[in-house]
Amino acid sequence: MFQTRITELFGIKYPIIQGAMMWLSRAEMVAAVANAGGLGIMASLTFPTAREFREEIKKTQSLTDKPFAVNITLLPTIQPRSLEEYIEAAIKEGVPIIETAGRNPRQYMNQLREGGVKVMHKVASVKAAKTAERIGVDAVTIVGFEEGGNPGMDDVTTMVLVPCAVDALKIPVIAGGGIGDGRGLMAALALGAEGAVMGTRFMLSRECPLHNSIKQRLLEASEKDTLMIMRSINNPERVAGTDFARRILEMEERGTTLEELLPLIDGRRQKKALDKGETSEAIIPCGQVVGLIDDLPTIKEIIDGIIKEAGKIRKRLS
Ligand SMILES: Cc1cc2nc3c(=O)[nH]c(=O)nc-3n(C[C@H](O)[C@H](O)[C@H](O)COP(=O)(O)O)c2cc1C
Repeated sequence: MFQTRITELFGIKYPIIQGAMMWLSRAEMVAAVANAGGLGIMASLTFPTAREFREEIKKTQSLTDKPFAVNITLLPTIQPRSLEEYIEAAIKEGVPIIETAGRNPRQYMNQLREGGVKVMHKVASVKAAKTAERIGVDAVTIVGFEEGGNPGMDDVTTMVLVPCAVDALKIPVIAGGGIGDGRGLMAALALGAEGAVMGTRFMLSRECPLHNSIKQRLLEASEKDTLMIMRSINNPERVAGTDFARRILEMEERGTTLEELLPLIDGRRQKKALDKGETSEAIIPCGQVVGLIDDLPTIKEIIDGIIKEAGKIRKRLS
């Protein structure tokens, strides 16, 4: 039952996908997921140049001979970059799967198709999912309101969004947002998805290069300890409910400007804070599922645990 169109399309053992995470999903994490039978996704946003991105791809390839993917987030960045160069680097290095996210990938489809890669696109609405199918992507990931990162403007939960997308599409759907264990995987499959993407769960793994003090803080967080910020600039982001995030929310409620917000959400600021283990200086993306997570296993233990739990659920239900 763990064989789906997604495991077949990507050549992976389990329908478990580790969500791209800026600064965090680098070679070690991506390779560990691949070696444990899932699909690891490297976040290209982490790398200021396509050259550094290419080096990290090579490093990942030295750590695993299994397939993995890279994520190209199409949202505008404070330091502009040529996404074509990043796509070209991934194609040249033989990465078999590219995930796009954030915006419609139409303008990159020719390059992706000519490069012979499988394309998955991440969306937060059924409308965007249908557009992605129409322009020819191979699979769609749809993420609900619970997700850590950018769950879109509609506030529709994973439980509703996934079956709506499954009903509307012919290509396989991957569910995301709020999934962190075998129960979540089984729920996603029951809703008609053929894979489940998890970000927050893999953030709280041994291999994740997040400072231990932030990991400890997140382990103590409940399902109520996240906030949605940046709705005022039409790019809502679910983050850990820290004082820093609350300060941003208050600024937004007072009608702050984009210029005032930009220095606070700058990726370099976030990198410094993540490295220092400092939660009072930058936002930390994190999903509501953080409330379910209270351990810090290896990635192999996470994936094996999810599959074992899912197997038990299957037995119980039959
Ligand atoms: C710390 C963190 C960083 C993220 N960075 C990115 C990113 O760079 N690009 C992207 O498309 N999604 C990003 N996401 C979203 C994840 O890839 C994934 O869709 C999400 O975490 C799934 O929801 P969950 O956290 O409830 O499992 C990030 C999520 C987290 C928690």
